[in-house]
Amino acid sequence: MNDTIPLRVALAGLGTVGGGVIRLLDANRDLITRRAGRPIEVVAVSARDRSKDRGIDLSRFAWVDDTRELAGHDAADVVVELIGGSDGPALTLARATLAAGKGFVTANKAMLAHHGLALAQAAEAAGAPLKFEAAVAGGIPVIKGLREGAAANAIGRVYGILNGTCNFILSKMEAEGRDFAEVLAEAQALGYAEADPSFDIDGVDAAHKLSILASIAFGTQPAFADVSATGVRHVIAADIAEAAALGYKVRLVGVAEAGPGGLFQRVHPHLVPIDHPLAHVTGSLNAVVAEGNFVGRLFFQGAGAGDGPTASAVVADLIDIARGEFGPPYAMPAAALAAEPKADSGERRGRAYLRFTVEDKVGVLAEIAAAMRDAGVSIESLIQRGVTDDGSAIVAIVTHEGPERCVAQALEKLRGSQSLAGQPLWMHILG
Ligand code: HSE
Repeated sequence: MNDTIPLRVALAGLGTVGGGVIRLLDANRDLITRRAGRPIEVVAVSARDRSKDRGIDLSRFAWVDDTRELAGHDAADVVVELIGGSDGPALTLARATLAAGKGFVTANKAMLAHHGLALAQAAEAAGAPLKFEAAVAGGIPVIKGLREGAAANAIGRVYGILNGTCNFILSKMEAEGRDFAEVLAEAQALGYAEADPSFDIDGVDAAHKLSILASIAFGTQPAFADVSATGVRHVIAADIAEAAALGYKVRLVGVAEAGPGGLFQRVHPHLVPIDHPLAHVTGSLNAVVAEGNFVGRLFFQGAGAGDGPTASAVVADLIDIARGEFGPPYAMPAAALAAEPKADSGERRGRAYLRFTVEDKVGVLAEIAAAMRDAGVSIESLIQRGVTDDGSAIVAIVTHEGPERCVAQALEKLRGSQSLAGQPLWMHILG
């Protein structure tokens, strides 16, 4: 490689992260040139609004009105896509860039969740790099960690806190005893939440990221459609208080496991034991745990969003490309990725936290206990703590370990019961 030839970058999207990439390349120019073996230079940019003041001098870059034209831009070797969206311009740009044999770097987890396998096939066919460190857990080098650092291991389980907005909300609710809606508004004001906040709070964003991690960790085809996702909007302050009394923190955890029954992928609010590292991940931080058969438990933690951390991940990918270091996007050729069936979660064994909001009247506890008994769910502890303003009470149950199928059956028996004043909440206890 001729070390005087720069790697020339076309940048699609000049929002928070796009601006961060330009600032990072400016600030660390010499260091990056020494590490990459050659300069990395942005040569062309494209965004929706040319006139917007971003605090960056854009006059040194070619401006391209139609983002899709960046793929064919003669002066660029690599396109960085920071537009977002699973389809539309981002996908068009990805396909065209790879078809042109150019490198493609993206932070777009939604697009990878839906089209990652096809894009990996296109990249391999063209011999072009496709890199996406920034798509999972922002600045944490977890893709590199699993794809390269842990490549010698069979990984049995990968799990973690993959959405900073939800972690911020749960941590704030915990620290200040505040309600969900109020804290969500604060997260949005701070810019953590996705444009559509339901992607964050309903677990979709974390599910996108989990499907990418699972593919790299297990050597399986990305299977976003098989992720079962529930978010945090039904967690109330009383759940967090009960969890604390029992020695747990509430966290939205994405869990993926590869086993003989297939691929298990779930994003769900969990009770995390206070002595587990994930219990100490607070605010908008992300964290990922991977269990390798030789390396043991790996724990990665850091900022999952924001201009600096996300730009750090994007530029790390560019440095790899500048060095000529890239391989198959999912750590093995796309044709070698196994198509695993979805595992049946009913067969999983675990402990559960169940919270019921009930009418405070005779026979209610007996009805809940009977449903548990009939479904074969063994109760470890049961708390009824006080009565809410509207005359209903909160009953929190922790079960002994057992098949999830039995808990589902117990809840089904209680569906529509006149004793319940709302939907029960089921949280898994991280084992
Ligand atoms: N909205 C995401 C989060 C950040 O809250 O974690 C980008 O993935």
